[in-house]
Amino acid sequence: MSGKTAVSVVVCMFVYWVLLKLEVNTSCIKPLLHVESNGHVVQVFLNNIYMGVAHGSHDKKSFSFESSVTLDSHIIDISILNTLVGLPDSGAYLERKFAGLTKVRVHCSDNEYDEDFSNQTWGYQVGLLGERQQIYKEENLDVVKWSKMEGSTYEPLTWYKTLFDAPQGNDPVALNMTTMGKGEIWINGQSIGRYWITFLTPEGNPSQTM
Ligand SMILES: *[C@@H]1O[C@H](CO)[C@@H](O)[C@H](O)[C@H]1NC(C)=O
Ligand SMILES: *[C@@H]1O[C@H](CO)[C@@H](O)[C@H](O)[C@H]1NC(C)=O
Repeated sequence: MSGKTAVSVVVCMFVYWVLLKLEVNTSCIKPLLHVESNGHVVQVFLNNIYMGVAHGSHDKKSFSFESSVTLDSHIIDISILNTLVGLPDSGAYLERKFAGLTKVRVHCSDNEYDEDFSNQTWGYQVGLLGERQQIYKEENLDVVKWSKMEGSTYEPLTWYKTLFDAPQGNDPVALNMTTMGKGEIWINGQSIGRYWITFLTPEGNPSQTM
């Protein structure tokens, strides 16, 4: 490496959106949006407002997410960003192993309303906007507006970029990812792979930080 080096990092593994927009007819005052998944992370948006995140664990992959919502216009626009961190690639009955959403419904805490949207025809889109725009490439770094990072505020699914002068000499350069969580790294527009510092070995250490 030589000269100015751009490093951009996105916190993701394999991510895809599922999207549904429809009209609901309910007089419910306190509706609840309920999502179930058997792996591995969901970030839920309703009418383009972030509702929250939920995930399973190493030992228990399945989880559910529930949030109270307001249905002002009776139009509901649900976007769920799903993250998969991989599936088993060997062993018996592989065809029966799957991960992802299993249920999405809206139910009411003050009346009988309960509608299951699981079998609706959902839209589907792989990846993040920044991946499609390739904002990690030098020529595209200005496609988005970057803001200055204040302190160490942790946000889920954030692109980070930094520029530094490559050290002198021909020795290999390593990045120390100790303070990061999980994601993918590009240097000068080229992906150098993924990291997952927060996933610890039985000894309590990340498998790779450099
Ligand atoms: C959705 O379809 C599956 C498979 O046909 C069925 O088992 C399930 O009961 C359906 N769910 C709803 C809420 O209609
Ligand atoms: C990597 O960064 C961490 C946290 O800043 C630090 O404790 C550690 O010593 C660094 N590792 C190396 C090899 O410099």
